[in-house]
Amino acid sequence: MQQDPASMDHLWLPFTPNRQFQQAPRVMVGADGMHFTTQQGQQVLDGISSLWCVVAGHNVKPINEAIHQQLGRLDYATAFQFGTDRAFEAAQRIAELAPGDLNKVLFCSSGSEAADTAMKLALAYHRARGQGHRQVFIGRERGYHGVGLGGMSIGGIPGNRKVFGAAMLPRVDHMRFIHDPVHHAYVQNELPVWEEDPLLELEQRILPLHDPSNVAAIFVEPVAGSAGWYIPPLGYLQRLRQICDKHGILLVFDEVITGFGRLGAPFAANLFGVVPDMITFAKGVTNGVIPLGGVICRDGIHAAMMNTDAPAHAIEFSHGYTYSGHPVACAAAVATLDWFREEDLLARAAQTGPQLGAAVHAAIRGLPGVVGIRSFGMAAAVELAADPAAPGKKAFDIFLDCLAHGVLVRSAGDNLVLAPAFVVTPAQIAQMVETLAASIKRHA
Ligand SMILES: Cc1ncc(COP(=O)(O)O)c(C=O)c1O
Repeated sequence: MQQDPASMDHLWLPFTPNRQFQQAPRVMVGADGMHFTTQQGQQVLDGISSLWCVVAGHNVKPINEAIHQQLGRLDYATAFQFGTDRAFEAAQRIAELAPGDLNKVLFCSSGSEAADTAMKLALAYHRARGQGHRQVFIGRERGYHGVGLGGMSIGGIPGNRKVFGAAMLPRVDHMRFIHDPVHHAYVQNELPVWEEDPLLELEQRILPLHDPSNVAAIFVEPVAGSAGWYIPPLGYLQRLRQICDKHGILLVFDEVITGFGRLGAPFAANLFGVVPDMITFAKGVTNGVIPLGGVICRDGIHAAMMNTDAPAHAIEFSHGYTYSGHPVACAAAVATLDWFREEDLLARAAQTGPQLGAAVHAAIRGLPGVVGIRSFGMAAAVELAADPAAPGKKAFDIFLDCLAHGVLVRSAGDNLVLAPAFVVTPAQIAQMVETLAASIKRHA
């Protein structure tokens, strides 16, 4: 069906240059497997799992079917004061995947809500233990934790913060970023070994400045996704855990991207052998089909919140959303996790990720304007030389050009990212890498 251009007048698109879009609209009308169909009938290979979401590919029949069945059985039930069978089931399945005693799940509908939920839970937990003075949050430069006021404040992507000054939470600090373009511009499925210690700054400057006894939580993406797929130095996450333990600070892994298989493991926490105090998730948990997010927290956090003298009818954590644990979204999550098992998707991601990385390095390293390539798990990023006169422009142009040639890649600042569904074939990897390489050459 052709869309009448006039009918596009009312939609304001998120994180999109809307003026440019109006000149040349990009409209998807169908999707199946690894491909979209555009309004013009073009087939486009989805090289980014539709923003890291569609990890099993599009139009997975058992997930669709589970949603239909749930709609006919219980479409929605008020979330406050009630649970649904499906929400309990989804929580159990998710907790089973998470390592250690990460056993309690709070649902919401997005990664942004998950970040803000985790921040509020950190404050409430410390207060419940008589440490209400712990109110400082620490994030990291170029981190992304969504667009809520909390997540934006601990996030560190300059463009997302620039115009919201007064809305930024006070008492938030940021660690230095984890990229060393001199020694580790090229990373291929391994953790860079840094000679210097990137966490000395946290220990010697940031924590003493605020006093560690005031710090509620440190938030990191185990692999920095939205900034452009930056891989943590060897030992970094383990040392962060030790520092947090030493000072009674909660460690939160934002696994909205890394959760549900992107690294070939259920969570980055499993892969790195580090148990954070909370994991935030969204996206892949339902294969992106229906919004669902959440926070998995350790038993001790839950126990401290339940250990209260308040009367039995008092709510222990005054927080939640109308759609927390929506039964249709939870049915999609259960079906997605069933499909993970059925199709062995974690193992497939673990196996195919290095092939993607090898293909990107082989075809793109050395091309004009390329200053770095980082691959890890089932994603790879190509970094282009920055142009101070037009930041991000070339990457955006290459994104448009690849789309015109039938492949969806993602531009993130000066990076171009590939992060396909775990069912991608070798031929599809070759197509996306060749298309990207050809476009980079055209834009030399
Ligand atoms: C690490 C991380 N946290 C949070 C979010 C925000 O998720 P949402 O867009 O669902 O609010 C994202 C989105 O890309 C993300 O990558």
